[in-house]
Amino acid sequence: RTCILVGAPLDCGKRRQGCRMGPDALRVAGLAQALAALGHKVTDRGNVDPGPPAATEGPAHIHALGDTVAWTRALNAEARAAMPAGLPIFMGGDHAISLGTVSGVAAHAHAAGRPQFVLWLDAHSDFHSPETTQSGNLHGTPLAYVTGQDGFGAFPPLAAAIPETQVCLIGLRSVDGAEQAALLRTGCRAHDMREIDETGIAAPLRAFLDRVAEADGMLHVSLDVDFLDPAIAPAVGTTVPGGATFREAHLVMEMLHESGRVTSLDLVELNPFLDERGKTASLMVDLTASLLGRRVFDRPTRSFA
Ligand code: ARG
Ligand code: MN
Ligand code: MN
Ligand code: MN
Repeated sequence: RTCILVGAPLDCGKRRQGCRMGPDALRVAGLAQALAALGHKVTDRGNVDPGPPAATEGPAHIHALGDTVAWTRALNAEARAAMPAGLPIFMGGDHAISLGTVSGVAAHAHAAGRPQFVLWLDAHSDFHSPETTQSGNLHGTPLAYVTGQDGFGAFPPLAAAIPETQVCLIGLRSVDGAEQAALLRTGCRAHDMREIDETGIAAPLRAFLDRVAEADGMLHVSLDVDFLDPAIAPAVGTTVPGGATFREAHLVMEMLHESGRVTSLDLVELNPFLDERGKTASLMVDLTASLLGRRVFDRPTRSFA
C-alpha cells in the first residue's frame, strides 16, 4: 500500500504543551522506515500549516478556539487530498487533530459513496461539545463533532456526519458525566476496560470489524497514546491507570491488519517531552507497523531456515 505520512503538530487542544513535537518524534523513531521494511511505499508530506487563527467566538473558558478551528480547516482539506492517494497516517499533535482528520476522511467517503466507520482507541470518549466541556480543552471533543452532535457552531459545517452506529470506542476508563450522558443517547458502541477484562479485547473488536465488512465500509482508526497502559506508554499528558497492555494493543493492530479494512489512521497525544528515552514513540511506531502487517508474536522464522 501507499502510506502517506502527514505531520499535524497541533498543541492547542489542551493547556499542557509538548504534542507539537509528536510528528518529529515519530519520524525519529523510524515510522517511515518501519513501514517501508514491510514493503509499503511511504511518502512524508511534511507538516501541515494551519495558517492564522480563525476569527471565531465561543464560550469564554474554551482554550484556543480560533487556532483549533484553523487547524480543523487545514487538516480537513489535507485529509480529503490524501485519501485518493493512499492510506494517510496523521501524526499528531493532540487529539484535536481528529476534528479535521476524521471530518475530512468522512467527507471523502461520502463523496465516494462508501460508509465511513471509526474505531476510537482511547481511555477517554472525547465526546464533549464546546458547551459541555468543563476543562475547555478541545481535544476532549472530536468524536462529538464528527458524529454531528450539537454545540459546534464555531466549527466548519460537516460535509457528512459519521452515523453513530458506525462508531466503536474501546479502552474507556475516564468519561465525564456530561460525555457519558451524551454518549448513552447515541448509537455508538462503547466498550470500557471493565468489559475488556470480562470478555477480552478481541470479542468487541471482531464484532465491529464484521459489521464494517458487511457494509463494505472504510475504517478510520484513531489511536490515542492513553489507550495504552501508562507503564508501557508514559509520554502522554492524560495518563489513566489500567490501560491496554502490550499484548492487547498488538492483538488489536494485528486484527485490524487482517481485516484489510483500515483506510486512515491518527496517532495522537504523544508528548515527547514526557517520554522515557523514546520508548512511547517507539511503541507507537511498532503498533503502526503491526497494523500494516508486521507480526510480533509469530515471526515467520521458518522462512529463514
Ligand atoms: N474528558 C477530559 C476533558 O474534557 C479529558 C479529555 C482527554 N482527551 C484526550 N484526547 N486526551 O478535559
Ligand atoms: Mn483522546
Ligand atoms: Mn485520551
Ligand atoms: Mn457517536
